[in-house]
Order: sequence, then structure tokens, then C-alpha cells
Amino acid sequence: MQLKICAQSIETVQTDAVVVGVFSDGIMTPSAAYAEAACEGAITEMIAEGDFDTKLGSTIVLRDMEGIWSRRLVLLGLGKLEDYDDDAFVQAVGAALKATKAQTVALPLEDWIPPARTIEWAVEHFARLALTQKEPLKCDEVELIDDHTYMVVVEEEKKSIAKALKIGQAKARAVNDAKYWANMPANFCTPQFLAETAMKMADIKHVTVKIHDEDAIRELGMNAFLAVAQGSRVAPRFIELHYQGASKSKAPLVMVGKGITFDAGGLCLKPGAHMTEMKYDMCGAAAVMAAFKAIAKLGMKRNVIALIPACENLPDGIAYKPSDVITALNGKTIEVQNTDAEGRLILADALAYAARFEPRAIVDVATLTGAMGVALGNHHHGLFVNDPKLCQAMEEAADRTMEALWALPFGGRYYKDLLKSNVADIANIGPRGEAGASVAATFLAAFVPEGTPWAHLDIAMTAWKSGRMPQATGRPVPLLIDWIANA
Ligand code: BES
Ligand code: MN
Ligand code: ZN
Repeated sequence: MQLKICAQSIETVQTDAVVVGVFSDGIMTPSAAYAEAACEGAITEMIAEGDFDTKLGSTIVLRDMEGIWSRRLVLLGLGKLEDYDDDAFVQAVGAALKATKAQTVALPLEDWIPPARTIEWAVEHFARLALTQKEPLKCDEVELIDDHTYMVVVEEEKKSIAKALKIGQAKARAVNDAKYWANMPANFCTPQFLAETAMKMADIKHVTVKIHDEDAIRELGMNAFLAVAQGSRVAPRFIELHYQGASKSKAPLVMVGKGITFDAGGLCLKPGAHMTEMKYDMCGAAAVMAAFKAIAKLGMKRNVIALIPACENLPDGIAYKPSDVITALNGKTIEVQNTDAEGRLILADALAYAARFEPRAIVDVATLTGAMGVALGNHHHGLFVNDPKLCQAMEEAADRTMEALWALPFGGRYYKDLLKSNVADIANIGPRGEAGASVAATFLAAFVPEGTPWAHLDIAMTAWKSGRMPQATGRPVPLLIDWIANA
């Protein structure tokens, strides 16, 4: 599939199809008004006689219309003008992409910009929607082979529009990468697979990759991470990716991704029904790695580090046990009260490790707690953030990328008390059924380098769609890329 920008008018563009949008109550977009005049009122007539419904997302293809250059004229319903918003734009674009198999399709996107958005926003989102892979087990190359061309018709060609197209394409490819890795079964997507995937990124300019194997992880003192890994015969990997897009003196932005390639719960074994989808417990890692790759490929002028602790969480004769006490990288002792609360343990060491880079900010991404489902459902990521500026940056990036998220409380005396242990500095779980996501964030906060702006995204309910045909969503890849671009 090819996407092109072309500065022409809808009257002269030469494609096999042209899509024109029509709002309800006979409100025409400029292109529809032009088509309407060219075909002498045929559109209004079709609406009046009930042959075309202007409700959002409805389409009809007309062929060989008088006065229209293109062989096909696609009418696209945009619904009520007063209801038209970002979500309506997404639906309209989806319908436009499905309406015709014509080789070349012209889309006058300027007609469909939602309120308070720009043509750049519309172009970026269009590219993202057009190039995002829908089937679960295909990589991005497959989709790109088809020979469709979409011409985004704009009044005036601008550098900013070309850039928006490029960024939209990059975000779509990154989403496809993340989905592809996340959808892979756990016997393929192992810690070593993630490490090899990371190693391939060493080909990108200004990228360096370091893979720490089990001995190296022990050498570093990441005992919380090792404790989780020790119940599996599949060895852990700690993946460290560096991209230097700015001068060395600039403090880096660090992304940390939870990379549990399978979460059986450990000795606190999950019931079978809760385990089936636990190959997705590395969605945080997939999102961070995919975003990192896109950022580096785009050559962003930022210093970025990605850290991925990757291992399995299984029961075994030498698995870590409830009641074990382990010393994390930052010296704090942890009482393991539940081996299924493993994500926070591997993240604890990775967050503490980030201290050595004196980062400007840290964002971690993790499928951390089932409790997110009760708190926010499956649309909003849970956001936990210790710094108002970083909070604002995350919320702005979320707005631009249409990645719903919601800030929740954590830290403070109430939550800290829930994590008290009589044998260690901190317990790894709180009381059952009491603010599980906030308690988990409070645990993580104990391992964040002092004074560092930090945000934690709990994506347990947003990273994949559950059910008979589960599928990764690729979220929050666009959010991460957007945050780094604007940080
Ligand atoms: N990976 C799970 C969280 C999860 C559960 C994500 C369901 C998506 C769907 C995590 O490691 C876990 O098991 N969390 C426990 C924590 C509990 C033991 C305090 C949970 O949420 O039940
Ligand atoms: Mn678990
Ligand atoms: Zn887990």
C-alpha cells in the first residue's frame, strides 16, 4: 500500500476513485459540493429518495458519473455535523478504506478534520489507520506489498504534512511490530527471542544493544528479577537498548517494559482459565521495543534508553516461594507473599538499574494488575505518575494519539501501610481486593531512583483484546513515540 500527498483540487485529481464526505441534513463538504454541482444535484436526489444514508460510516460507490474525472465516486456518510469528533474521523476513515478496491483512491482529508485538530493530525492518523495490520500473525511487510495507492488531496503541499505522513507510517509500523511480537506464542516469543529481536536493532544508526545473560544479571545484583526467573528452565535476559540522537551531555529518557513471556503465576499457580492469555504478559516489553525502534529509525533528536527484563514465571522445584525474602538491586528487601505478583519484582530491579543513567524521566509499561479491569475497564490505561509536568506530558500525548488513559492515586501513607511486612522492607502484595493497581504502583515507586520524574502505565486491560480470538492492540506504542517526540 502506498500513501501519497498531492496538492490538487478534487476537480482535477486523476485516480480510479474519489471519496467525498456528506454530513447529515444535506450538509456537504467542499468536495461533495463540487461533485454535487458536477453531476447536477444527483447526490441530494439520492439522499432525498433514500438511496444513500448519510449516517456515519455508510458508503456507496457510483460509477461513471457525469462531470467527475474518476471512474468511481464514493459517497461517505459523516453523520451529524454536531456529533463529528475524533472517533467519528476514525470511523469515517475506516469506512473510506473499505469502500472500494480501486487501485488509486483520492481522499480529500481536509474536509474531514475534526474540531480543534489540524490537517497534520488528520494525515498522521489516516496513515496510522491505513497501515495498521489487522490480522494477528503477520508482520508489517505483508500489508505493504499490496498495490493500492491512496492520494491524500490537500490544498497546499507543506513540509509539515509530509512529516505527519512519515510519522503516521512509522507509528503504524511500530504498532504492527508490537502486535506481531505480542501475538506470538510463548514457545516462540522467549526471552532469547526478544533479545535477538533487540540485537537486530543494532543496525540502526546511533543504536547500541547490550544483552545481559543470567550470569550478568546475577553479577549486577538484580535478585528480584532472578527470583522470578529461577522457576523456569528458559533463561532470563535483561535487554538494554541505547539510542543517542542528541549530544552525550543530554540526560536520557528511559522506557522500561515488563517482559514476562509467560505468566503461569509461579507456585501461586493461576487457574487454567486465567492462564491461557498470559503469553501477552510481555506486551509492555513489545510496546517499548517497538517504540524504541521507531524513534531510532526516525532519527529523533533525543537520547533514549529502553530496558526490558524478560523471563518466564513458572512453578518448579526450585521456583521462588511465598515467604521468600529477596534483596533487590537498590538494597531494599522484599517479602514475596505471592509469586503471581512477579511483574513488579522484575520491574523493581529494572527501575533501580535506570538510576545509573541519571534519566530526565522514566516511563514503565506493564500488564501489571487484573485490578485495572474493575478500576477502568478496557479502554483507559492506568496512569500513575509522581511529577505534574510528566503527568501533563503524558496526558497531552494521550490526547494527540487518541490513547485514552486516566491518572490514579498511589504512594502516600495509606497505600504504603498496605505493603508493610514484618520480615522485610516491603511486601510484594497488599490485602486482597483493595486497590490492587494503586498498591502495585506504590510498590514500584519504592524502586524508582530518588527525585526522578516517573510514570507507570498499567496496560493489563488495554494491551490486548481477550476472548475466543484474543489479539494484541499495539497500545500504547503511539503514545510512547509521541511522548518522546515532544519531551
Ligand atoms: N500479569 C498479571 C496481571 C494480569 C492479569 C494482566 C490478568 C492481565 C490480565 C500479573 O502478573 C498478576 O498476576 N497480577 C496479580 C497480582 C496479585 C497476585 C496481587 C493479579 O492482578 O491478580
Ligand atoms: Mn502474575
Ligand atoms: Zn504477570
